[in-house]
Amino acid sequence: MNQEDHSLGNSPFKIEAAEVMSKLPKQFFAALVQSVNREIAQGHDVINLGQGNPDRPTPEHIVKSAQQAVANPQYHKYSPFQGYSFLKEAVCERYREDYGVTLDPEKEVAILFGGKTGLVQISQILLNPGDLCLVPDPGYPDYWSGAALAGAEMSFMPLRENNGFLPDYEEITAVDRQRAKLMFLNYPNNPTSATAPLSFYEDTVKFARENGIVVASDFAYGAIGFDGVKPVSFLQAEGAKEVGVEYYTLSKTYNMAGWRVAFALGNERIISLINLLQDHIYVSLFGGIQEAARVALTAPQDNVNELVAVYESRRNALFSELAKIGWEANKSSGSFFAWLPVPAGWNSASFAEKLLREAKVAVAPGIGFGRHGEGYVRVGLLSDEDRLREAVQRIGRLGLF
Ligand SMILES: Cc1ncc(COP(=O)(O)O)c(C=O)c1O
Repeated sequence: MNQEDHSLGNSPFKIEAAEVMSKLPKQFFAALVQSVNREIAQGHDVINLGQGNPDRPTPEHIVKSAQQAVANPQYHKYSPFQGYSFLKEAVCERYREDYGVTLDPEKEVAILFGGKTGLVQISQILLNPGDLCLVPDPGYPDYWSGAALAGAEMSFMPLRENNGFLPDYEEITAVDRQRAKLMFLNYPNNPTSATAPLSFYEDTVKFARENGIVVASDFAYGAIGFDGVKPVSFLQAEGAKEVGVEYYTLSKTYNMAGWRVAFALGNERIISLINLLQDHIYVSLFGGIQEAARVALTAPQDNVNELVAVYESRRNALFSELAKIGWEANKSSGSFFAWLPVPAGWNSASFAEKLLREAKVAVAPGIGFGRHGEGYVRVGLLSDEDRLREAVQRIGRLGLF
């Protein structure tokens, strides 16, 4: 049933959806998934670099801890509404060790059902209909979903290559500065693969304070930085907790995308609002999952270092192959994506379509991430090196570069 079709099969009983449902943005990438599936159904060997699903399994010690925890009757009951203290303490310990950031586990941490949920929720918590939020363009589409559900408006902050794919706060008009109540940031960035220096977050705190704008820093790829440079957390900037929260998920760091564990960290007032909303919607995550998440965060982090090395090595393989076919692009500095300019004469959608039809390689057209994503395609480093090399070789044979 699509959004316009409010009837249920042939029944005369009419189901009317709430108005807000029609405001939800269309899922741009659903069409891409369909095209890929069509090619596969026709028997083609498609190399799918269009998606962002981690390809490797969750480390064994985490899986084992979950297996044992499932058998623990303590976890068969409702868990505490706001989650177990041991898990909140574990994420605080990780932030202290990795970023030198001190957090109060009971007041400055909320456990979330995955980062996606939290990033949609924050708009519901802070925005009234007609309020404005600032969103990066290109950016992760779930920020738009939250704004739509809250009936809020969005103002897009262009991320340009010549500014390191960081927003330029000088460009934000006086009216927007005054109206905006919330701003989303995301570094290491999906889709551009850029990272942000501490000085950017210091400027952000200043800008947020001056204009009364809450910052939601999406640190989903926080663990994934290349060339020996560890990504900086927004919370490392002085005063960050006063103006915002950071979202941290286990999905990418520990290959736990299906487990749905994430956190909001930082401003005490925002955390209490998140907890208040969640108290009315959920009982917290299954206790066995919380136990495994604790193990992920507190055990030695060798698997994380190995994972980053795997992505870096894939990135190197991809870029050395791109150079061979004459496809010039900036090397990714973080996340597990590469952001590649499309050749002259193409737009991102027509180029992606050509690669899928003629090279049987799927990439994500930049326009799906916003107007300023036009002119680029996003490639995931989520296949092994041989497949990445082969994908570029197939593209090379089209003779477009
Ligand atoms: C930029 C960004 N933020 C947040 C998420 C959400 O991750 P999860 O809901 O698995 O925690 C993703 C997942 O793809 C992402 O790319």
